[in-house]
Amino acid sequence: MCGIFGYTGNREAKEILLHGLRRLEYRGYDSAGICVIGENGDFKRLRVRGNLDILENHLANQVMPGKIGIAHTRWATHGAPSEQNAHPHSDCHENLFVVHNGIIENFSQLRGELLERGHEFSSETDTEIIAHLIEEKYEGDLSVAVREAIRQLEGSFAIAVVHRGEPETLVAARRESPLVIGVGTDEWFVASAVPAFLSMTRKVIFLEDNEIVTVCGKSLRITDLDGVEIERKPQEITWDLDAAEKSGYEDFMLKEIFEQPRAFMDTLADKFSREGEISIEGFFSNKDYVMSLRRIVIVACGTSYHAGLISRYLFEQWAKVPVEVEIASEFRYRGAVLSEQDLIIAISQSGETADTLASVREAKAAKVPVIALVNVVGSQMTREADSVIYTHAGPEIGVAATKTFTSQMAALAVLALHFGRIRDALSDGKYGVIAEALRGIPVLMKDVLADIEPIAECAQEYSHCENFLFLGRGISYPVALEGALKLKEISYIHAEGYPAGEMKHGPIALLDRRVPVVAVVTRDSLYEKMVSNIEEVKARGAPVIAIASTGDPDIEKVCDRVLRVPETIELLSPPLTVIPLQLLAYHIAKIRGCNVDQPRNLAKTVTVE
Ligand code: M6R
Repeated sequence: MCGIFGYTGNREAKEILLHGLRRLEYRGYDSAGICVIGENGDFKRLRVRGNLDILENHLANQVMPGKIGIAHTRWATHGAPSEQNAHPHSDCHENLFVVHNGIIENFSQLRGELLERGHEFSSETDTEIIAHLIEEKYEGDLSVAVREAIRQLEGSFAIAVVHRGEPETLVAARRESPLVIGVGTDEWFVASAVPAFLSMTRKVIFLEDNEIVTVCGKSLRITDLDGVEIERKPQEITWDLDAAEKSGYEDFMLKEIFEQPRAFMDTLADKFSREGEISIEGFFSNKDYVMSLRRIVIVACGTSYHAGLISRYLFEQWAKVPVEVEIASEFRYRGAVLSEQDLIIAISQSGETADTLASVREAKAAKVPVIALVNVVGSQMTREADSVIYTHAGPEIGVAATKTFTSQMAALAVLALHFGRIRDALSDGKYGVIAEALRGIPVLMKDVLADIEPIAECAQEYSHCENFLFLGRGISYPVALEGALKLKEISYIHAEGYPAGEMKHGPIALLDRRVPVVAVVTRDSLYEKMVSNIEEVKARGAPVIAIASTGDPDIEKVCDRVLRVPETIELLSPPLTVIPLQLLAYHIAKIRGCNVDQPRNLAKTVTVE
């Protein structure tokens, strides 16, 4: 996720662009840049590694005359955070400039083709190819060139483009990444989100997928990919700035829960080729290496640890590799016996968690290869690991991990499949079925998010309770752990996650009508056993809230509340079953008046022991 902003009108662009970027900074802050074009086609561009303060400091004494420009605040996906990779990017001759938010999936192929046609690149980004494609199509009309260029793109994008030959024209386009137009008096704004220009206009036009907008002087023109004009009237925004930053959601956590289908899809996007084969690079893709693997040791903390626990089932069943999953703060001091045929996978959203980093260093000292699975590009862990795999969830502002958790599952599923293929543990047929199901998960996530009323009602009924037990078996056991963690961290209710089969060995003593039990009970290989556990719970008078499959009418008979999720293959159910648990925790916390984005005593990144 990045923030893009563009302006054309009758005021000096520089300050307006900086103001807009400030309001978009939450979308990414590893590098920033701005480009302004003067009346005679002169341009000034400045890009920096780091956040907006650094850009502003550099710009403080610089004159940038011009009434049109574009700006960007970056959350790296392709290419490390650096000045070179910062936007705006340009074509070979610095005639046109582009800012982009999204991921171009066919970037490698297009880049290769452009190289063959003589283009030279100065960054590692997918965005730069867009500038070069527009350059090839430009024959004096920027709008047409952008339209022709984006026809070649696969993936998601919102772009804003300016050209020195048309120093009043701003062209923008989108597919699957947000883009909104601000309508001023003889001035126009384009941005990733409304807050960028809310203090300057409340009149907006939301651009739809595969639409291109061209604004210049008093004119606005929207077309589709075939150049057919589209009529759209501006709407009036009534939200305040705070709501606008959260795209209308009450909290960042809620916004991030709803971003999960997109984050999951983006995380898969750069890991599959167009033909549906896995294309991830690193030492771990070498056949001899993967065949000689003796065991995988996963180290992580908190929610990332739960993602690791889920992936154990995938690595063991699909790739037939033994897996241990370790809490990093324990692992680092345990003097664990490691060998060079082990592989460490360190999972961390931030890439800065002190205990996980220390575990990486332990592993490196023992000469064990390390893969870091990280969301923040360029973070410390990415510099210390032997290979890095990224989730592409975008910045997560809420302290409670939500979209990064499901994105970790996406990345780990791909890696498990990859190992399964290399180790010949998966037939072509089985691989095809799993890969298809994996790519279908975002659509199913959207289905879960489309029906959240029963979750809110359930929260209303049980929000007064002081203790909750979360139960699951098999792949749903780590989901139960995550559900309990979400509830305790944002609502301050005591919650425990337990493997349902262990309940009889202790926790059952806690149960009575005041202790709701949340049971993750999808129609899987352990369904009957789970139902027996639910009946044991019911016999002790505890209310049961089930997270169950849509095609399971019988579960109503043994549970007080049922929250439904669509069916998928067993090992891919967690990204679906966790969503009702995230939302249950969210609604209970809101009813109890808690600050869900910044829960007490917690920090987003734990960089100390
Ligand atoms: O950045 P990391 O993934 O390494 O963070 C690990 C934990 O601190 C984190 O997952 C924490 O448990 C979550 N914020 C809980 O929602």
